[in-house]
Amino acid sequence: MKTMSLDKILQSQGFGTRRECREMIQAGFVCVGGEPATCHDAAFEPAGLEFSVHGEEWLYREKLYLALNKPSGYECSRKPSHHPGVMTLLPDLFRARDVQAVGRLDHDTTGLLLLSDDGAFIHALSSPKRHVPKLYVATTAEPVTAALLAHLRRGVKLHDEPAPLKAEVRQLDDHNLEMVLEQGKYHQVKRMLAAAGNHCAALRRTAIGELTLESLGLAEGEWCHIEPAQVAYRHAMPRMAQG
Ligand code: URA
Repeated sequence: MKTMSLDKILQSQGFGTRRECREMIQAGFVCVGGEPATCHDAAFEPAGLEFSVHGEEWLYREKLYLALNKPSGYECSRKPSHHPGVMTLLPDLFRARDVQAVGRLDHDTTGLLLLSDDGAFIHALSSPKRHVPKLYVATTAEPVTAALLAHLRRGVKLHDEPAPLKAEVRQLDDHNLEMVLEQGKYHQVKRMLAAAGNHCAALRRTAIGELTLESLGLAEGEWCHIEPAQVAYRHAMPRMAQG
């Protein structure tokens, strides 16, 4: 990879305008290799570069790929209106990099949410054509019945969908079921459960493609960097155990 001047590197990572980054460097707030780097046009190979700003350590990342364990009460939209946005759970400089949620979870849905500033990654994961499976655990208001499971497997007709929507489902206990969706239509799990005669009392997304929330070990509200390859999937419905 080509070298880049330190001010450009900082700018690319969301630390401010080029001028602001220069000022931070000249003021001695930026260290590379443990030493203050006060020359704004000193050139570095960005890949793998570790640096600190105001004493906080950072690693250069050309693109950001993040996983968040979304708590209830946060909106995924870029302009949240009724609840705080999920971006408030991340460092401010990620917002400066135009990080966005990959698809959306309702404000009261919890669990695995991916975020990125890589448009191709966002598109690949949210495109219905890619069939990336998403695994949900739905808590139902009424007990889960064999008839409910059969209805969901057979397909549920939603009023604005031309064809019935089917889901792979597995009962976990009296009031919990796992559901795999590939499409991600508006309020899909809740609307499917309602149309099949039950009601979704709580909803949690537990996996996207091959990436499971459990494997990340994130508490609610915590986030981490991921590698895009961690989301890769080999076949349509990978994680649903038989039962
Ligand atoms: N289906 C829903 O109904 N809500 C979500 O947040 C995700 C899937």
